[in-house]
Amino acid sequence: MSKTGIRTAVFPVAGRGTRFLPATKASPKEMLPIVDKPLIQYAAEEALAAGATRLVFITGASKRSIADHFDTDQELEKLLESQGKSDLLRQVRSVLPSYATCIFIRQPAPLGLGHAVLCAEAAVGNEPFFVHLADDLIIGDIACLKQMADAYEFHRGSILGVEEVPHSDTDKYGIVEVESSRSQVSRISTIVEKPKPAVAPSNLAVVGRYVLTPAIFDDLRQTSRGAGGEIQLTDGIARLMSHEAVYAHRFDGKRYDCGSKLGYLQATVEQALAHSELRSDFRTYLLGLTRQLARKPAAGTKKKRRKA
Ligand code: G1P
Repeated sequence: MSKTGIRTAVFPVAGRGTRFLPATKASPKEMLPIVDKPLIQYAAEEALAAGATRLVFITGASKRSIADHFDTDQELEKLLESQGKSDLLRQVRSVLPSYATCIFIRQPAPLGLGHAVLCAEAAVGNEPFFVHLADDLIIGDIACLKQMADAYEFHRGSILGVEEVPHSDTDKYGIVEVESSRSQVSRISTIVEKPKPAVAPSNLAVVGRYVLTPAIFDDLRQTSRGAGGEIQLTDGIARLMSHEAVYAHRFDGKRYDCGSKLGYLQATVEQALAHSELRSDFRTYLLGLTRQLARKPAAGTKKKRRKA
């Protein structure tokens, strides 16, 4: 457990990942690999690095492989052992450390992120907890949730991970207005789900990282359906703000939107360049490819004609 006592991390993983169809027809989007690790494992590792010991997955249809991923696979372990593949065996065994436990809760209907978090209430109990959205992969020296757990220790209120996004993208995120735009952690004065750029209070977007106090559960219970006809976590947080301070934390690290194809590819390329086994060969390949691309115009674009 971390110093703060935040021991539970909630992973809402019930969404169908339609942006990646057909890849996500029978396989969860959270199992898409970035090089050789599925997104959900990056998520679990981040939560464990922040001190969590209980991982609560809010699941839906076609998500069984997430439970399988975190389960022991004795047959596979025996096979790797008999083949002397000790490095792979170590990797397979370290997917989940022995001190951590997993809890799987089925979200009965796709009623939104706020509803998914509410489904975790019995598992979380009356304690602060993390919420982690695996689509947002954040890579940095200090795990994003660990930074937020440290901020919680000081402020003792709910903390949302935020970063600036292009103004044109405000309608993809929860957007906050903060009291002090210069400090790394600042109290939130307004929060709104996916506002159009013209009416957005700022371009400071909530990314998929939250430390929430258990008071959020009562607020979510009273939250009616909002944007997209769903029970929005953002609306529950707006209620929470009427009786508790909620803070925005500008995290250190780089976020990849792995819910989009472009963000997913960017994460894959950059993690391959950082991968101990691959980086040298992959760099050589990329340099060659870039030289080739620089010579060839992209498909569908015409070369400009030189003036005579
Ligand atoms: C969810 C939240 C949104 C937040 C975003 C971060 O939206 O509702 O407030 O900014 O995650 O990724 P979704 O991406 O599920 O539509």
